[in-house]
Amino acid sequence: MNNQEKIRQLVELREKARLGGGEKRIESQHKKGKFTARERIEMILDEGSFEEFDMFVTHRSHDFGLEKQHYLSDGVITGHGTIDGRVVYIFSQDFTVFGGSLSETFALKVCKVMDQAMKVGAPVIGINDSGGARIQEGVKSLAGYAEIFQRNIMASGVIPQISAIFGPCAGGAVYSPALTDVVIMSENTSYMFVTGPKVTKTVTGEEITTEDLGGASVHATKSGVAHFRAEDEEEGFLLIRKTLQYLPQNNLEDPPIIQCNDPIDRMEDALNEIIPEDSHQPYDVKDVIYSITDCGEFLEFHRHYAKNIVVGFARFDGIPVGIVANQPNFLAGVLDINSSRKAARFVRFCDAFNLPIITLVDVPGFLPGSSQEQGGIIIHGAKLMFAYGEATVPKITITLRKSYGGAHDVMGSKQLRGDINYSWPTGEIAVMGPKGAIEVLEGKNLAAIEDPEERAKYAAKKEEEYKNEFANPYKAARYGYIDDVIEPRNTRFRIIRALKTLASKKDKNPPKKHSNIPL
Ligand code: HXC
Repeated sequence: MNNQEKIRQLVELREKARLGGGEKRIESQHKKGKFTARERIEMILDEGSFEEFDMFVTHRSHDFGLEKQHYLSDGVITGHGTIDGRVVYIFSQDFTVFGGSLSETFALKVCKVMDQAMKVGAPVIGINDSGGARIQEGVKSLAGYAEIFQRNIMASGVIPQISAIFGPCAGGAVYSPALTDVVIMSENTSYMFVTGPKVTKTVTGEEITTEDLGGASVHATKSGVAHFRAEDEEEGFLLIRKTLQYLPQNNLEDPPIIQCNDPIDRMEDALNEIIPEDSHQPYDVKDVIYSITDCGEFLEFHRHYAKNIVVGFARFDGIPVGIVANQPNFLAGVLDINSSRKAARFVRFCDAFNLPIITLVDVPGFLPGSSQEQGGIIIHGAKLMFAYGEATVPKITITLRKSYGGAHDVMGSKQLRGDINYSWPTGEIAVMGPKGAIEVLEGKNLAAIEDPEERAKYAAKKEEEYKNEFANPYKAARYGYIDDVIEPRNTRFRIIRALKTLASKKDKNPPKKHSNIPL
């Protein structure tokens, strides 16, 4: 072969590799409403930035006639590129080659990009669309998965890891995405489960569809496995890009600050009116969030799961932050098992990647009841407390209204190393709400009043007295637990000033192997 022929051979090999499992299978992929592995990479990364690794890798198996079937790239496309000019590593499972199933060499390719991403200190994006372990390769593929899991674990908290599920993801394969920071699922074309409908029926007798067992809706609303449910793959690509815009390349860097055109001292008069006179009335805390963040932008995580707490990324004067806010519009913003877990994971995510945490508090307490107690609200609530207490990033807490009992301590209180704690004048910071407090404190006196009307009147009078005396921010402010009581309309400016003041904050935890967070 002369040199020109050698060059032609390279071009032909590349063309062959780009065809994956062949035209027919590509067509079938498109018919299912899915893009191919390579198309996905092209759409996620900056145009022309993809640099591929290991295009010529093929499997090494000789069982089940596999030695006669070889596809260049072996079912996964790997490499690096850029998003908004910043380096990312990526792997994209190719369903057109053995159903995207994982072989020994497939795993080696994924491990290679993960190892290099760790050395370089750049995020890893994994696109999942696979029939799981390559059945013909047996335990080699199990070992391959474990190699990937181990890398996911080591990379956790060092580089951002984002998983998109755009097809099947079943069996032990689900654990790689579950170990990553963000899981995005596409509606109607993706599913995740440890055991599929057939095995479920055999073992438990339960008949259930794939969608009801592990579709995007289930994981976005019920299990909380998915942070985002994308309407289609294109929305998924956008979510990947958007998420990375708020994150640093690795845990040793600060998140990227961008130019902000929204005035830092923008007053929002509507915020002075947002808290209803009757403190039992709800309002939407997202209205508060939209009116204080840069240009009203907020990238909400877990929008459909545990809606009594709202978490997500935003910017203040271009500085990326994580926001955690109780949502009075849903279950009165109470803390329960799911909302505690959701917020705890988010707080740790922010702390790992140096995003300051802004906490907006309106919480009546922890949800009472046997299902919560038996479900372990003690341990789950402790997770959130632990996450706040352990976090060393700047922590700014604004009490909007209620902040009662244990939930007050949990939600970024001063004593959990809150750096700057403000309250609106509508803040109610106390051990418990007026009704509960009067029932305890005035129980005997109330029982002694026979006339129910008189009793109610007496209770109302005492509740009013309690409210005036205790359910306000000034008791806490008197002790320095609240640094200042601020006008609601001025909240944006006060947060920005606090963030700038805290930019050089240094805090650390005592040396230890790792903490023992109540998992
Ligand atoms: C080898 C596989 C494969 C696999 C699919 N294919 N899964 N090859 N190993 N695991 C091949 C098919 O033979 C077929 O090849 C092509 O991929 C497309 O598959 P279809 O079945 O035609 O596609 P579809 O109808 O869309 O169904 C997709 C599917 C189904 C639901 C994923 O293929 C399926 O159930 N596969 C098996 C899933 C499974 O049980 N995996 C092992 C799980 S255990 P041709 O040549 O016809 O195109 C596991 C353990 C991991 O993963 C443990 C980690 C710790």
